[in-house]
Amino acid sequence: MSKSINVRTPSGDYEVLVGSKLIEDYNFKWLVQNRQVLVVKDSNVPNAILENLSISLANSEAKQVEVMEIETNEKNKSFDGLIPIFEVLNSNKFNRDCLLIGLGGGITTDMVGFVAASYLRGVDLIQIPTTLLSQVDAAIGGKTGINFSGSKNNIGAFYQPKLVLMDTDSLKSLSKLDFIDGLAEIIKHSLIADKNLFTKLENIFLNEKDLSDADLTQIIYESSLIKAFVVSNDEKEKGDRALLNFGHTYGHAFEAIQSLEGFSHGQAVGLGMICASHLSLLLEKISSEEFEKIKNLIKSAGLPHELPDNFNVNDFSEAMSRDKKILDKKLRFITLRGIGSAEITEDPPEDLVLKSINL
Ligand SMILES: NC(=O)c1ccc[n+]([C@@H]2O[C@H](COP(=O)([O-])OP(=O)(O)OC[C@H]3O[C@@H](n4cnc5c(N)ncnc54)[C@H](O)[C@@H]3O)[C@@H](O)[C@H]2O)c1
Repeated sequence: MSKSINVRTPSGDYEVLVGSKLIEDYNFKWLVQNRQVLVVKDSNVPNAILENLSISLANSEAKQVEVMEIETNEKNKSFDGLIPIFEVLNSNKFNRDCLLIGLGGGITTDMVGFVAASYLRGVDLIQIPTTLLSQVDAAIGGKTGINFSGSKNNIGAFYQPKLVLMDTDSLKSLSKLDFIDGLAEIIKHSLIADKNLFTKLENIFLNEKDLSDADLTQIIYESSLIKAFVVSNDEKEKGDRALLNFGHTYGHAFEAIQSLEGFSHGQAVGLGMICASHLSLLLEKISSEEFEKIKNLIKSAGLPHELPDNFNVNDFSEAMSRDKKILDKKLRFITLRGIGSAEITEDPPEDLVLKSINL
């Protein structure tokens, strides 16, 4: 049984489906019949998943199906990395009625989304995210893009897909680290918007329960519901969509400094969420009991909960002030007002920010 979410945005509405065996069972006919289809697959996605998709597309009477693989790393998420995709479209004379399918993690969905937004000024797109992070985050909301000249995601477009399929079976081949990275975003969604989801996560992770398929589908669904709700109300990030950056102001600074090199994005955000919660405590917006609960959940999900011994406060301050310059001299923190509710705090006192990393 799959679960469905309707994302409604000014540029278009679409369905997000969450469940098992979706790639095998979904009837793509309404989207692919008589159309040229290009599937862009992350090279680490198991071939068995592609085989299932290919059968489904053939059964849906696509006119032509081309498949290509891409290497997914942040270096390849670039203009150079896009060229082979445009070349396949161009050499196969794909017309404006063609359809692109992104099959992979957030790098794939960001790249394929951007190609769909720009090839012949926009062609239809299906996203089939295959990492936990891309399911609950990257594939919903229409943010697409690439990295340019040392900056992340600084070239791109808002471009909504026609359909997002989150097949939970595709997560079975994911590494533990990549899985935990996705958990960081699910915890984030619970903290900013859904206390019940937070309690559900506590029940699973504090009790060291094995994550059943049903639990996994449910938490992906509830987490995606939050992302879908936020982007439906603020497609182009003019207001509340910023709340999704909870933990990220710290996370970005952590990712930029040497002593935390080697931390994944999810790990940096996990630590960032603890610091942002600590800041919320220092600003008297949450209680110390709530802060401890947050720390415990993040720890029990397998994310780091303290800064490494070689952490350098000066590097951290420098990274923050670099961000401050970029952001028009104002640093924006997302803070909590209790578990399940978040707000924007602009330029909190510097001494409190420094205190907040003292975990
Ligand atoms: N557009 C957005 O709103 C948004 C939001 C969050 C993150 N992002 C972007 O998403 C990217 C991170 O996403 P990610 O964590 O999914 O990274 P990713 O795409 O690099 O995938 C992580 C790793 O998992 C591998 N992989 C993917 N599917 C697999 C599968 N089924 N089995 C085994 N391995 C598999 C990939 O090859 C990669 O090595 C970043 O580039 C980030 O900027 C975008």
